[in-house]
Amino acid sequence: MPAVVVVGAQWGDEGKGRVVDFLAEQADAVVRYQGGNNAGHTLIVDGKTFKLHLIPSGILYPDTLCVIGHGVALDPGVLVDELDRLAAGGVDTSGLRISAAAHLIMPYHIRLDELEEDQKGPNKIGTTRKGIGPCYMDKFARTGLRVVDLLDADHFKSRLTQLLEQKNALIERVYGGQPFTVDEIAEPYLRYAERLRPYVANTVELLNEAIDAGQNVLFEGAQGNLLDIDFGTYPYVTSSHPVAGGACVGAGIGPTKVSRVVGVVKAYTSRVGEGPFPTELHDETGDWIREQGHEFGTTTGRPRRIGWLDLVMVRYAVQISGLTDLAITRIDTLAGLDKLQVCVGYKVNGEVTRAFPVGLAALGQVEPVYKEFAGWQGDLSGVTRFEELPEAAQTYIAFISEYLGVPVSFIGVGPQREQCIVVRNPFAGE
Ligand code: IMP
Repeated sequence: MPAVVVVGAQWGDEGKGRVVDFLAEQADAVVRYQGGNNAGHTLIVDGKTFKLHLIPSGILYPDTLCVIGHGVALDPGVLVDELDRLAAGGVDTSGLRISAAAHLIMPYHIRLDELEEDQKGPNKIGTTRKGIGPCYMDKFARTGLRVVDLLDADHFKSRLTQLLEQKNALIERVYGGQPFTVDEIAEPYLRYAERLRPYVANTVELLNEAIDAGQNVLFEGAQGNLLDIDFGTYPYVTSSHPVAGGACVGAGIGPTKVSRVVGVVKAYTSRVGEGPFPTELHDETGDWIREQGHEFGTTTGRPRRIGWLDLVMVRYAVQISGLTDLAITRIDTLAGLDKLQVCVGYKVNGEVTRAFPVGLAALGQVEPVYKEFAGWQGDLSGVTRFEELPEAAQTYIAFISEYLGVPVSFIGVGPQREQCIVVRNPFAGE
């Protein structure tokens, strides 16, 4: 039962896309189980760049089943656009399957996301403004519209008419925003319905059958563990479950079916949006890493906040997601620094702890305890074996693994698909 879950072990943007892409080559099925088009994966294959926001990375392999599970917040316009762009790039998208139970991001969700953020002013979350939070709010309030609702035009229009009364009242009376008419939403949405209808399937059945038949199934987490609605740095989080358990609830498989959980760890830390960030760098080193690493959002274009690697935080991800493997990315980006710092503990009231605190105030007060490492130099992009890495980089990676008590399976040394050292292959049972 090789079901492998890949999650981001930090605040997202760890470079999951390429690890997923490598594993997708061996996968019979690749699944998105949470989040929506707030995620953005850039894949570079044969010199061609593909930006995927919703469709699983496995779409670039012709015979791979690609599933959008019911835990995903699905913007149908974005999905249709992504399908069109892939088709224009010569990619066959016939392997896509969409859960009928996935919740739809509606235009009023996007407007409310914007209005709510603007109203919060300096206390804003810094969301991607894609309607993610309001969509999940409706899901949990049991007032959401799902893919299945879209497939029946009369039913969809009647539900939309009811819902719009309440949404327009909120938009107009509370926020002073622009209301919607039923037709301006229904008309494009019912067009999307016809484009998406052929892809809608019973994804729970498909995935459980695949796993039971011994096929390789890959679950592609979006965002990162520290953005989880329950375990992340609340309220500066997303509204879904990027932890590994999210794969079970967002795709419809039992926890006993998961065989391995790969945590993707960037060799430093980045974050978009607001919220405390203990190891954040406000100096030239931070600017240098941002430039070297092209750390600007795939989805929003925003410059990302940069800091040293925080192992207290990653250790917490090991706990909440049960990581069995590490994928360490961006070792090449750090080449050129003389010295590096790694946070190995938090000082709280004079005592050093490795426990990640609950609550923003507590996290805002910790003082990172650093261990210094020698840097490494040179172009690492052609390195294919761990032993070929500069000694200082080997020491850095070995320390991360030892501190976390989790073996390293992948090391990213460049943006291309092949620029990844594979130490152990989870699908090969290594
Ligand atoms: P939302 O998911 O758009 O509601 O945004 C909530 C928080 O999650 C904000 O701080 C976003 O910047 C952050 N976020 C959402 N998606 C991603 C991602 O894919 N990478 C990194 N941060 C993200």
